[in-house]
Amino acid sequence: MYCVRNITEDLYWVGANDHRTYLFENIHPIPRGVSYNSYLLLDESTVLFDTVDWSVSRQLIENMHHVLDGRDLDYLLINHMEPDHAATIEEVLIRWPGCKVISTEKAFMLMRQFGFSVDEHEQIIVKEGDTYTFGKHTVTFVEAPMVHWPEAMVTLDVTNGVLFSADAFGSFGALDGKMFNDDVNFERDWLPDARRYLTNIVGKYGPHIQLLLKKASTVLDKIKIVCPLHGPVWRSDLMWFIEKYDKWSRYEPEEDGVMIAYASIYGNTEAAAQALASKLCEKGMTNVWVYDVSTTHVSELISESFRLSHIVLASVTYNLGIFPVMLEYLEHMKALNLQNRTMAIVENGSWAVKSGDLMQDFIDTNLKNMTVLNERLSMASALDSSQKPELEMLADAIIESMGKTE
Ligand code: FEO
Repeated sequence: MYCVRNITEDLYWVGANDHRTYLFENIHPIPRGVSYNSYLLLDESTVLFDTVDWSVSRQLIENMHHVLDGRDLDYLLINHMEPDHAATIEEVLIRWPGCKVISTEKAFMLMRQFGFSVDEHEQIIVKEGDTYTFGKHTVTFVEAPMVHWPEAMVTLDVTNGVLFSADAFGSFGALDGKMFNDDVNFERDWLPDARRYLTNIVGKYGPHIQLLLKKASTVLDKIKIVCPLHGPVWRSDLMWFIEKYDKWSRYEPEEDGVMIAYASIYGNTEAAAQALASKLCEKGMTNVWVYDVSTTHVSELISESFRLSHIVLASVTYNLGIFPVMLEYLEHMKALNLQNRTMAIVENGSWAVKSGDLMQDFIDTNLKNMTVLNERLSMASALDSSQKPELEMLADAIIESMGKTE
């Protein structure tokens, strides 16, 4: 059965939802699923904007047949050719062999690398500032390198203000019928997955997102609807979402708050993390979030690290090193360029307490613009009640560094 939605009078969502994939990119859990958005324009020419992941290709084809209703497909416009959107290119071209393909030179190169058979079809190579007319609708192209791959572009329909934004403004989460941002309570139900998507997938490329936002700011008044490749279509409150993107891509925290990430074997480092959380709340800082790095997926840890201003790393020493899952979390921070946070260190070890120095060294060597508080909490096997003053000092230092001391 087809499943399509009108976006405007002549533009249709013909994508698909996926609740079967457990790991997006084979690394990030997506318990709420994901949507692969593809859009079909019926103008004097017909135009498909991007395809879908191979896993939902049959749904795309069925949707296209329904909307085309016997018309031919004239153009396939590829904004982003990562296979979660491009894997069905070949199938579309087999079924509509007269279709011309519009994309960037780099995208065509990557299509060949991936073995998509585009060379038997007419190729229209476009670059920033070019325009193309399909009848009533004229589009213009804006290059968006590294958002999220080097070949990416976004396409603005200057006739009606629809921006096909590729990976930008996307989110994890299947649509399940709810197509627009105002069909859902986005802040409550979608923001965590939108943040997790952006920070983990494109977090490394903050400056490139900033560049795209700068380009978008020059045509903001012309943008009426944003059609991303994942998640809801935006038709209101776009500035609210742009401000989130601006913060994430400048590596600025959204909120003053403390994330305590602990690595604990027998529960003693965990107990110290809980004691610190309790002390912070007692002193009035209640925006406190405690995570076990062993049981919290690293994509969640990264997402929360982008949200909050303060990160406490509490790790046991393991094989004279940092506990492996804590090290993995730190490696992801490095890979995704996280910066501008205040950090604190809690260390544990029964005969050689090494994890604190090693975490400090990792931060100093690999992370940018991090402030590590001097008040390190160090324990031998477990936090002793005699260390209550040290716990107080650490909690005070965290709060003072937020300018909220009591
Ligand atoms: Fe959803 Fe970069 O692809």
